[in-house]
Amino acid sequence: MTSEFRDPVIRTAPMPSDCNSNGDIFGGWVLSQMDMAGGIVAARRANGRTVTVAVEAMTFHEPIKVGDVVSIYGEIARVGRTSIAVKLTTIVTRKLDPGEIKVTEGIYVFVAIDDNGRPRPVDG
Ligand SMILES: CC(C)(COP(=O)(O)OP(=O)(O)OC[C@H]1O[C@@H](n2cnc3c(N)ncnc32)[C@H](O)[C@@H]1OP(=O)(O)O)[C@@H](O)C(=O)NCCC(=O)NCCS
Repeated sequence: MTSEFRDPVIRTAPMPSDCNSNGDIFGGWVLSQMDMAGGIVAARRANGRTVTVAVEAMTFHEPIKVGDVVSIYGEIARVGRTSIAVKLTTIVTRKLDPGEIKVTEGIYVFVAIDDNGRPRPVDG
């Protein structure tokens, strides 16, 4: 199957140390990977530093397993005066299966900041 997406922002593989007590990957691990991916997309758009201000939506569709190859895709959903909302989608491929599984999606909001950590215009 060919992904509907272009290049991922991040591609990585979780380790056994990233598991929860069920033996699947801990939700906090994927939240953190998505935050990093969204931060990269937002910083490119803002042409400088950004911080995460909110996670507006987050859905865990399927568990992630050790050995999965995890790809996080991001696209800009909305640009405000100082904020940028990034839609993030996590897709995994599992073992030798060529299929892609959508495991999470969410909307993360970032704010462009100046050297003092205060909001600055995205296009300023
Ligand atoms: C992000 C931060 C600089 C914003 O400062 P602030 O004084 O609250 O800024 P403002 O109220 O002017 O809001 C800035 C923008 O963020 C948006 N925003 C603020 N809170 C929001 C929320 N809960 N959800 C979505 N957008 C939000 C505002 O709408 C505004 O967007 P716009 O300019 O495009 O209209 C400040 O809250 C902060 O430093 N937070 C901690 C960030 C951080 O440490 N993140 C890592 C977490 S571990």
